[in-house]
Amino acid sequence: MKVFSVLTICCTIVAASPLGNWAALSGNDALELRLIKLGPQEYSIISELEKVSLRRRGKKFMDVTNQISIEEAYTLGLVSRPQTSLWKQMLFSASGAKQIEMMNKPVKEYKYPKKLSYKSLVQDLNDQIDKDSIYENLSQFTSFYTRYYKSKSGAESSDWLYEKVNHLTKPISKDYEVNITRVHHKGWDQTSLIVSIPGNVTDKVVVGAHQDSIHLLLPQLRAPGADDDGSGTVTTLEALRLVVQAISTGQFSPYNTLEFHYYSAEEGGLLGSADVFARYYDSGAVVLSMLQQDMTGYSTGSKNQGIEEHLGLITDYTNVGLNGFLKLVIDTYNDIPYHETECGYACSDHASALENGYPSAFIIESEFKFSNQFIHSSMDTIEKIDFDHVAEHVKLTVGYAIELSGTNILNKSN
Ligand SMILES: *[C@@H]1O[C@H](CO)[C@@H](O)[C@H](O)[C@H]1NC(C)=O
Ligand SMILES: *[C@@H]1O[C@H](CO)[C@@H](O)[C@H](O)[C@H]1NC(C)=O
Ligand SMILES: *[C@@H]1O[C@H](CO)[C@@H](O)[C@H](O)[C@H]1NC(C)=O
Ligand SMILES: [Zn+2]
Repeated sequence: MKVFSVLTICCTIVAASPLGNWAALSGNDALELRLIKLGPQEYSIISELEKVSLRRRGKKFMDVTNQISIEEAYTLGLVSRPQTSLWKQMLFSASGAKQIEMMNKPVKEYKYPKKLSYKSLVQDLNDQIDKDSIYENLSQFTSFYTRYYKSKSGAESSDWLYEKVNHLTKPISKDYEVNITRVHHKGWDQTSLIVSIPGNVTDKVVVGAHQDSIHLLLPQLRAPGADDDGSGTVTTLEALRLVVQAISTGQFSPYNTLEFHYYSAEEGGLLGSADVFARYYDSGAVVLSMLQQDMTGYSTGSKNQGIEEHLGLITDYTNVGLNGFLKLVIDTYNDIPYHETECGYACSDHASALENGYPSAFIIESEFKFSNQFIHSSMDTIEKIDFDHVAEHVKLTVGYAIELSGTNILNKSN
């Protein structure tokens, strides 16, 4: 960005400071301007460096620069252009108001099942949850120094994940044209991953987790990301293994297309999922539902307070109908109850689905206030993870995936 070349000099000096290797976030990179969304109508332009400091102060947002350029944001009046006359700014915001309306894509409403259809199958699969192999996988996944999306090891961890899902879907790769896509993003190397198991129709039922981790003090420090979101990643890997088993043994075949997503760069402001769902929207894809699994392994927070072990069902910025269906799934398939809780705007990748008009939900390890406080640091480690609790999230994910992908909820006759 040429306009800022003078400023770049200042920060190249910072780059050589005793803080050490700023390779992942230095010079031009640190000062690069980004358009972020802090609420349904609230946009702001800040630098990459300011983004990290905003996150450190606990502020959540979406980085939508790959969808709306800075120049477009000015033109649309999403943010006011610096050094323009008041008159010009008024003109921009008048024309912008209409555009903003168009950019808020209405969320589709579907009638989710009021009764479950696969009880014995789901229970049978859930009896086979393999906690040792979940542990083994999380142990490998957290051994990457960091999975920061702009780091080399972050790119390597996405290779690991790609190998893993290839291996996991082998049993059905002959009979089903399982489509495993690596989504490349503009600006960093870690890819998002889409595992698509075709159904009778192309309408999608999606399970999501994010693969990246971050150390919020300095992105170059060690970030094992065991809970955030290694736990969600291995939760959905295990659910994928069980669903594949049901398909390969002829016990199940999805009616809707069933997809497992592993997003890159959630910690940079939902960047990976924003790309994925914007592409789906642009190509006219139908997504019937999306369930996010982000932080599934920490139960100590509530236990320490003498509160029963539970799942945290997020009620703000999620879909009411889908939440109702998930309550039924939890009541049926889980051994612990849910507590309703809130986590604010854009708190995880389900927000990217909703933003593009797709109903989405998010179930986290507990009420938000009891959730893991060690995240975004080198202390987010595997020995704090409760694998019985992770297994509860697997049960929920298997129930959701089988029931919704196995049911013709639009009552299409093909
Ligand atoms: C990882 O998980 C998969 C599926 O859950 C399992 O097959 C595998 O044995 C696990 N362990 C390792 C070390 O990959
Ligand atoms: C797999 O998915 C990608 C991305 O959605 C699509 O471009 C590609 O055509 C698909 N491939 C097959 C064989 O269906
Ligand atoms: C879905 O496709 C399978 C395999 O082609 C077929 O056997 C089944 O009857 C179809 N199901 C529905 C509900 O159309
Ligand atoms: Zn996080």
